[in-house]
Amino acid sequence: MNNKILKVGTFFSGIGAPEKALERLKQEGYIKDYQVMFFSEIDKYAIKSYCAIHNISENLNLGDITKLSGKDLPRCNLWIGGFPCQDISAAGNMKGFEIESKTRSSLGWEMIRLLKEVNNKPEYVIFENVAMITSKKFKTTLELFKKDLKELGYTLYESVLSANDYEIPQMRKRYFLIAILNNCKKFSFPKAIKKSLFI
Ligand SMILES: C[S@@+](CC[C@H](N)C(=O)[O-])C[C@H]1O[C@@H](n2cnc3c(N)ncnc32)[C@H](O)[C@@H]1O
Repeated sequence: MNNKILKVGTFFSGIGAPEKALERLKQEGYIKDYQVMFFSEIDKYAIKSYCAIHNISENLNLGDITKLSGKDLPRCNLWIGGFPCQDISAAGNMKGFEIESKTRSSLGWEMIRLLKEVNNKPEYVIFENVAMITSKKFKTTLELFKKDLKELGYTLYESVLSANDYEIPQMRKRYFLIAILNNCKKFSFPKAIKKSLFI
């Protein structure tokens, strides 16, 4: 177990599913504790839900990511951003997430901008999106996204994971991109948990 308190900042925070995962990691002894240094969300219902679920003050919400400056962000060990998927998802219009596109999904690039601006880059950054982001249609943009992260000093690990491989009764495939600064830790994705059927 790492004895340090993990300082966390999340973007596109929604209702804070990753924060729930951190809570579980704490309960299971993988991390000593974590502290949400800030979150960034614009939807008023999501903000209320987030604060109620995680017992966190609305004062920690920094609001619209496009209005943030990296220089003002507090030091964190971990950033997490499940950026909007509407323009990538098969259920959406698939307009893409090119930086110039100004689509909602292109807001993911705001995290890259902030990583370029911030004084102390977080050691770990987790991006999450729909599995469709790995399709041929979005390959070029995703490669550019990853190129920027590599140039910032991050080693990348990526995978599409399916929720039902991790004891969650739902067919939900999601793309995860894990960025680790200066190769400070080795990482491998957790193996699928063997399913068993009880009748
Ligand atoms: C795919 S959802 C993320 C869900 C989140 N991972 C969770 O656990 O609930 C994307 C979120 O980004 C938020 N969002 C959209 N534009 C934003 C912006 N400019 N700044 C901050 N958040 C934004 C949306 O309101 C939405 O809640």
